[in-house]
Amino acid sequence: MQDFFYFHHMNNKPTLSPVIAGCMKWGQWGAQFTTGQYLEIIEHCVGYGITSFDHADIYGNYTVEEEFGKAIRHKSSLRQQMQLISKCGIKMVTANRPDHHIKSYDTSKEHILLSVHNSLKNLNTEYLDILLIHRPDALMNPEEIAAAFSQLQQQGKVLHFGVSNFLPHQLQMLHRFFPVEINQIEISLTYLDPFHNGQLDQCIEMNIIPMAWSPMGGGNLTSDPEDERNFRIQAVCEILAKKYDAEPQQIQIAFLTSHPSHILPVMGTSKHKRLELALKASDIPLEREEWYMLWRAAMGHEVP
Ligand SMILES: NC(=O)c1ccc[n+]([C@@H]2O[C@H](COP(=O)([O-])OP(=O)(O)OC[C@H]3O[C@@H](n4cnc5c(N)ncnc54)[C@H](OP(=O)(O)O)[C@@H]3O)[C@@H](O)[C@H]2O)c1
Repeated sequence: MQDFFYFHHMNNKPTLSPVIAGCMKWGQWGAQFTTGQYLEIIEHCVGYGITSFDHADIYGNYTVEEEFGKAIRHKSSLRQQMQLISKCGIKMVTANRPDHHIKSYDTSKEHILLSVHNSLKNLNTEYLDILLIHRPDALMNPEEIAAAFSQLQQQGKVLHFGVSNFLPHQLQMLHRFFPVEINQIEISLTYLDPFHNGQLDQCIEMNIIPMAWSPMGGGNLTSDPEDERNFRIQAVCEILAKKYDAEPQQIQIAFLTSHPSHILPVMGTSKHKRLELALKASDIPLEREEWYMLWRAAMGHEVP
C-alpha cells in the first residue's frame, strides 16, 4: 500500500514552467500595475513559456490576487494555460485586516480554509494548482493542517500542497500526515544555506520540488557591486556569460537550475526582457568546474 501510494504520488507531480513569475511586487509593494499592465505581463509570460505565477494572500497588503484576478477575468482561456500558486498562514497588520493586532502566524484549519476561499474569489478561479503554508508556525498542528488540505483536495479547490521556508524536520513532521510536494525557500548565490542545511537533500530524497525565492538575491549583485563578495560572484558570472553567449545575470539562474534537485527559480523582476532571459538561462548546462567557480566566489574560499 505504502509503495503504491508513493508511486502514485511521484507520477502526479504538478507541471510547472522551468521559471516562475513572482507577483509579490506587481502591485502596492512595487510596480503598482494597472489592470491593463497586469494583463500585458501575464499574456507576455504565458506566450513566452513562463506559465506559473507565484502569489500569496498577503502580497500588496492582501490586494495583488484581486488585481491579478481582475486582469484575467475576461480572458477565460488564460486560466487553462497557467498554474496559480498561492500561500497562506501569515497574518499581517494592515488597514485591510483591522482584526489583526500584531503580525502573527495562523495555520489553523479555519484560517487555511478561509484564506483559500479568499484567494479563489480574488484570483477569479475555481482552483489553485498549488497551496503553500507560507512559513513554519510555532503553534502548527500538522494533523489540523492535513485535515484542511484533505478537505480542499476533496473539494477540488487545490490540486497540490506544499510549504515554504520549512526546515527538513518541519517538512517531515507535516509529511507524516499529508504528502508535501513543494518547499519554496530562499536560494541564490548570495544565500547558500539550503545547500548545507539539508533542505535540498530532502527535496531529492523525497521527490519534492524546490522553488527558489529571491533567486537573484533580491538584485543585490547589481545594487551593491562594491560589496566584495558580490564583486567576486559578478566577476565569475561575466567569465561564464562570455562562454555561453549569455548575460551575467543568467549565470545566477543557471547556478540554481544546474543543481540535481531541479530548482525552479521564482523571479521577482517584472521586466519582460529579464523574464525571457531567465527562462533561457534555465537551459544553460554549467559544467561541474564552472559551478564550483561560482561556489568558490560565493564562499570566498575553495572547497576543503
Ligand atoms: N515564500 C516566501 O517566503 C517568499 C519570500 C520572498 C519572495 N517570494 C517570492 O519570490 C519572488 C521573487 O523575490 P525577489 O523579488 O526577492 O527576487 P529576485 O528575483 O531575487 O530579485 C528581484 C530584484 O532583482 C532585480 N534585478 C536586477 N537585475 C536583474 C536581472 N538581470 N534579472 C532579474 N532581476 C534583476 C530586479 O529589478 P527589476 O524589478 O528592476 O527588474 C528586482 O528588484 C517574489 O515575487 C515572490 O513571489 C517568496
